[in-house]
Amino acid sequence: MTNPGISKHVPLSEVKRVRVGHLQEAKRNGERFVMLTAYEQYSAEIFDEAGIDVLLVGDSASNNVFGYQNMIPVTLDQLLPLCAAVTRSVTRAMVVADLPFGSFEVSPTQAVESSIRLMKEGMAHAVKIESTKDFAPHVAAITRAGIPVMAHIGFTAQREHLLGGYRVQGRGSDGKRIVDDALALEEAGAFCLLMEMIPAEVAAEIERTVSIPTIGIGAGSSTTGQVLVWQDMAGLRGGKPFKFVKQYADIRGTLSSAAEAFATEVREGKFPTIDHEF
Ligand code: KIV
Repeated sequence: MTNPGISKHVPLSEVKRVRVGHLQEAKRNGERFVMLTAYEQYSAEIFDEAGIDVLLVGDSASNNVFGYQNMIPVTLDQLLPLCAAVTRSVTRAMVVADLPFGSFEVSPTQAVESSIRLMKEGMAHAVKIESTKDFAPHVAAITRAGIPVMAHIGFTAQREHLLGGYRVQGRGSDGKRIVDDALALEEAGAFCLLMEMIPAEVAAEIERTVSIPTIGIGAGSSTTGQVLVWQDMAGLRGGKPFKFVKQYADIRGTLSSAAEAFATEVREGKFPTIDHEF
């Protein structure tokens, strides 16, 4: 899918409002773009101000916001208000909303209906769909409805039970399956491919072969863009990080120290002081 509205080259960092065509142009010009998840106002505002190009209201809200064990339980109705909050909080970033498990698989019509809700009620700028080539008709139908689609291939957490858990996809001769998915979904009209947990050489082949931008998470360094779940990137989530994560902060430690300091001062009668009184 090309965007006829974009003509003169402006570096991505100088773009006032990131749109599909800018990401496609970034690939053509060898520029990288950056995506983080966001699920509410402050993180969305901060990431937008920090110049993050794309914010993903991911189904990862399931186990990063709602406290579920995996991505399967979260519903469209739960994601919609998070998406609307993120969209209201940004001025530059493009907001992509995930189609959660159960909101698109039944038919292309169901996929279009759910995508329309994400665009109208969630005010998203594009949707993301966890796909294989079997979902090319769904991607085509959503695109025909005027909605840009990011197709997510490789490891897809919504299918974790079918895939046998969190496992790298496309190793060895299985790599061809992922390349075939990529080609079919590009052909169906996806504007971008998100590739999760696939060997770096398979991702590199896809990046070379398709004309649309790719974005990786655990897919090596050759993709046009990179994405992380923000709670992983900033060290808010507890436990051992995934191999593909780099933590750029220790927000969990910072918050924990602040909460402990507050509790200590209240218990010791040191807060509030006269400065905090009316
Ligand atoms: O929902 C999500 O957070 C994702 C990640 C792969 C970025 O899809």
